[in-house]
Amino acid sequence: MNTNKKNMEFCIIGCGRLGISLAVFLSKQGFIPRAFSSRSPESIERAVRFCGRGKGYENPTNAAKTSSLVFITTPDTLIEPMCEKIAVEGGFDKKKMVYHLSGALSSDILAAARTVGAGTGSIHPLQSFAPYEEGQKSPFKGINMSIEGDEKAVELGKEIVNALKANSFTIPTHAKTVYHASAVVASNYLVTLEHFALELLKQANLSEENAYEILEPLIMGTLSNIKKRGSINALTGPVARGDDVIVSRHLSDIDAKLPQFSDLYRLLGKHTLDIAAKRGEISADAQEKLAALFKF
Ligand SMILES: NC(=O)c1ccc[n+]([C@@H]2O[C@H](COP(=O)([O-])OP(=O)(O)OC[C@H]3O[C@@H](n4cnc5c(N)ncnc54)[C@H](OP(=O)(O)O)[C@@H]3O)[C@@H](O)[C@H]2O)c1
Repeated sequence: MNTNKKNMEFCIIGCGRLGISLAVFLSKQGFIPRAFSSRSPESIERAVRFCGRGKGYENPTNAAKTSSLVFITTPDTLIEPMCEKIAVEGGFDKKKMVYHLSGALSSDILAAARTVGAGTGSIHPLQSFAPYEEGQKSPFKGINMSIEGDEKAVELGKEIVNALKANSFTIPTHAKTVYHASAVVASNYLVTLEHFALELLKQANLSEENAYEILEPLIMGTLSNIKKRGSINALTGPVARGDDVIVSRHLSDIDAKLPQFSDLYRLLGKHTLDIAAKRGEISADAQEKLAALFKF
């Protein structure tokens, strides 16, 4: 495999949001787009037009044969069957490096390519991508991207991420699922948590918009404290103080007014109590009273 990125040729299988952005910004950095394949001819045509070079292929195997670097950027469920199809049809060999960009799946789903000697890895941008628009700024610049896979895939992956002006970090292949779960908790479940907070404040006759504006400095301050002091030391509030009387009042009101959130409050309280206990600042008696309140 040619590892000089200045003339490294690549192909994209799946010309959607990420596939086209990746092709455009890699080609700006000296990687050479040779081939594009997708489900629809229109998407292939867009990719070729935006990159200004490369050729469209109806058959993904023929596209893969053109380049040493193959990115499979189809939807997640199609990556493994696509990889198997290309491997069976002879599109991969030991000179190829094959990547996918899914956050939820590891490079293990590229086993069919590995079996015929290709290097395999996954590179995941911790960012959400909109469809590429001509002339737009790079959505990769400054973002964090995880890399896992075999040794060569990880090394080349670092060069690719570096060329995209993003920051790379490596994770073990077996940890891909917990890595993705972490991203879901940090982003999606934070939304759920703030939704709960907004619903509570709406009980005080505030609109959702006003409620968010009122809570925003508290939310941002908390995030800043986590960054400065770590999650355990950032904890404040009634559980951290061991105040079971206040928590008991919260629960009475939530049970009466927003019972759909009662379980969530108790479960979060239980885990918050674990953090407070780690700090060792609340008495055993307070811990026991709070634990009893958080029982379902
Ligand atoms: N978008 C994001 O925010 C984001 C962020 C991180 C990671 N990712 C990962 O990036 C990968 C691609 O996601 P995406 O958001 O770019 O998806 P997307 O916009 O839906 O693009 C996927 C492309 O795959 C093509 N495709 C579908 N079936 C195909 C087939 N049978 N053969 C060939 N091509 C086919 C589609 O083609 P046509 O257009 O031709 O119909 C579509 O353009 C996924 O693994 C995803 O998990 C996405």
